[in-house]
Amino acid sequence: MLRSRIVGTGSYLPERVLTNKDLELTLDTSDEWIVSRTGIRQRHIAGDGEFTSDLATVAARRALEMAELEPTDIDLILVATVTGDFSWPATACLVQSQLGAHGAFAFDLSAACSGFVYGLATADSYLRSGNARRILVIGAEIFSRIVDWTDRTTCILFGDGAGAVVLEAHEGDRGILSSHLHTDGSQWGLLFQLGSGSRNPSCGQEGKNCLPHIHMQGNEVFKVAVRAMCEAAEEALIANAVDVGQLAYLIPHQANRRILEATAKRLGLPPDKLVMNVDRVGNTSGASIPLALDELNRCGGLSPNDLVLFDAFGGGFAWGSVLLRW
Ligand code: ACO
Repeated sequence: MLRSRIVGTGSYLPERVLTNKDLELTLDTSDEWIVSRTGIRQRHIAGDGEFTSDLATVAARRALEMAELEPTDIDLILVATVTGDFSWPATACLVQSQLGAHGAFAFDLSAACSGFVYGLATADSYLRSGNARRILVIGAEIFSRIVDWTDRTTCILFGDGAGAVVLEAHEGDRGILSSHLHTDGSQWGLLFQLGSGSRNPSCGQEGKNCLPHIHMQGNEVFKVAVRAMCEAAEEALIANAVDVGQLAYLIPHQANRRILEATAKRLGLPPDKLVMNVDRVGNTSGASIPLALDELNRCGGLSPNDLVLFDAFGGGFAWGSVLLRW
């Protein structure tokens, strides 16, 4: 059977680190409050001259290097982002150009924090149908440019970064086993960015019509996120007749520590199987899962045939899971 196997991972974090202590200087907040409510201690912030396509390109180069492939070996570049360089063209087009991946077609995918899981599922369809042989799936975000740095209820959560994987079609049992995606658009108003779309096209200019920032009802998002991530994880386990004890790792979207620990607890997952780096990078939205995956992979944490479950929830609401045999 043809399966989509990850043959390379890469990631990139901007150099500048913003700690909770730094935030204490400009906001009515404290390291103690942020750590106890979110588990986040610091986040990385893109430099003035850095854009989402730059972060994505570095992560992609590192993934290609690990896979021992050239950019010209890639058929499709898929960038999961909601903070792309522009509304259009797609950030994936800029990445294609920066990489020199001349043979690849490229597009962006907008599913907020679930973007990488949606990207894996989409790439898997292309690979198994034979419409592509090698695909770069990248999650890349610069949330620091869309958060309101005076709103302590949201700005403390997010960070910038990018992660990438190279997927290749292979015969055998290893690779993506299943994907389960879900959407409930009726709840979009609980988590969204008001400005920059057709409803508020003036955004980007100064003045009262400039509404670029994130709006979130944190308590409500928390409740729905835990429930939805548990359901998506269980769906994957049931569909593949896998017991939670057989998982090598759960790599969830790194929203915040409390969401992740509550999800793991409800699933009955031992704490050492929960992959978490939110303390060091914050919530990097679509970049969070491939960032955590690359970190785990590069420190030798993964062995062939390990069962790895990716699980995400975010704005839309959009959520889902992908189960993979490494
Ligand atoms: N520092 C200090 N005090 C704060 C801060 C802060 N940064 N932010 C809020 N507070 C205050 C509030 O003003 C409030 O004060 P009040 O009681 O005097 O009114 C108090 O703390 C409690 O506020 P809550 O919003 O009830 O705090 P809560 O315990 O719900 O924690 C949080 C907020 C961390 C956002 C939580 O709701 C949460 O984790 N939600 C999930 C949202 C999330 O992770 N979103 C990311 C995007 S979606 C995703 O990735 C899945």
